[in-house]
Amino acid sequence: TGRVTLDPGFGNTAACTSEITYIDGDAGVLLYRGYPIEELAEGSSFLEVSYLLIYGELPSREQLDQFTDRIGRHSMLHEDLRRFFDGFPRDAHPMAVLSSAVSALSTFYQDSLDPFDPEHVEASTIRLMAKVPTIASYAYKKSIGQPLLYPDNSLEYVSNFLRMTFGVPAETYQSDPVLSRALDVLFVLHADHEQNCSTSTVRLVGSSQANLFTSVSAGIDALSGPLHGGANQAVLEMLEQIRQEGGDVASFVRRVKDREAGARLMGFGHRVYKNYDPRAKIVKQAAQDVLARLSQSDQLLDLAMELEEVALKDDFFVSRKLYPNVDFYTGLIYRAMGFPAKMFTALFAIGRLPGWIAQWREMIDDPATRIGRPRQVYVGPQRRPYQPLEKRG
Ligand code: CMC
Repeated sequence: TGRVTLDPGFGNTAACTSEITYIDGDAGVLLYRGYPIEELAEGSSFLEVSYLLIYGELPSREQLDQFTDRIGRHSMLHEDLRRFFDGFPRDAHPMAVLSSAVSALSTFYQDSLDPFDPEHVEASTIRLMAKVPTIASYAYKKSIGQPLLYPDNSLEYVSNFLRMTFGVPAETYQSDPVLSRALDVLFVLHADHEQNCSTSTVRLVGSSQANLFTSVSAGIDALSGPLHGGANQAVLEMLEQIRQEGGDVASFVRRVKDREAGARLMGFGHRVYKNYDPRAKIVKQAAQDVLARLSQSDQLLDLAMELEEVALKDDFFVSRKLYPNVDFYTGLIYRAMGFPAKMFTALFAIGRLPGWIAQWREMIDDPATRIGRPRQVYVGPQRRPYQPLEKRG
């Protein structure tokens, strides 16, 4: 077995080769299959980017139409799965509902579980892309006690999701095209990020040859933590707290530096980006645009910008190369759109889904894949004799 190397958090260990996403953390570069994130955010759509990540190339018009059409045809949930939502408490966290319901897909769609049958993999790919937004919107509807709406496939992907989330049967829902587009761009920005915690989880679970639904469900659970996808909810809660305490940004920064109660500046720092997060730049601009569009002035946006300014001048953050990450401004946009903070991480999950699928498929197709099985360095007691219960003090 040879010598093992200790590498907590896998800071320096590559577990796979990948052709999907390239990051240069020092230069602030992010490419999906070679295409710069800035150009994709500007010119493409979320389904186009999903196709690119999953199949390797940008789709032709016909390929995109077919992909969209197939997803549309699977956007409803099995009626029994709709009833599943009744079993959860009203105040359940949407991420817990989402991962449970995605795991349950493997009980409803047993005809698409074989990881080595390309037709099964394709069917589970389309089902996930189609059903995860429906599930996420139902998690929200359940939490506010409103009826679940069936999808309307005449609408495009994001507008359909917004309607299922914010529409009610008693009224015709009109989504604002500017907001739909803004959410589409946010999904593009989240679509993949190479071997982050949730994606590595999807690969690790999949490496045991567990099916795609189950692997993605595990990825959703990994995403839910505050150091990963849960950071977008945590940022908003942090800003709210600062506002409630009188808006004193400097004193909050001081508490973070003093490591008071383990406080971190949520939405700051990244394992790989040590210059800036290219996604954060686009999101900051989008936050300003969306709020201007809604003619909302947002005290929390002002606080966030002040916080960024103060932190970026402070040696604590500068010397540790801590910059705003993608999660710093996203919550402000989601909030302006009407989403409660508890839903933010579920939005991240919808965005990250094509990345998880693409990475799982790459893992399954790669002949070099072995079951994921990290080693350890044992530091516990040496061998010692067992003491019968009555002889122990
Ligand atoms: N606030 C204050 N100090 C920080 C922060 C922060 N947000 N992030 C890192 N540090 C400090 C940390 O205490 C350590 O200092 P020292 O060397 O004196 O002990 C140093 O910076 C290095 O930090 P680390 O924890 O070793 O870095 P990491 O690569 O293990 O963690 C991170 C990366 C993203 C988990 C971390 O920066 C963090 O907790 N950030 C806040 C949570 C957050 O915004 N997460 C979203 C990440 S981006 C999108 C996503 O993945 O979901």
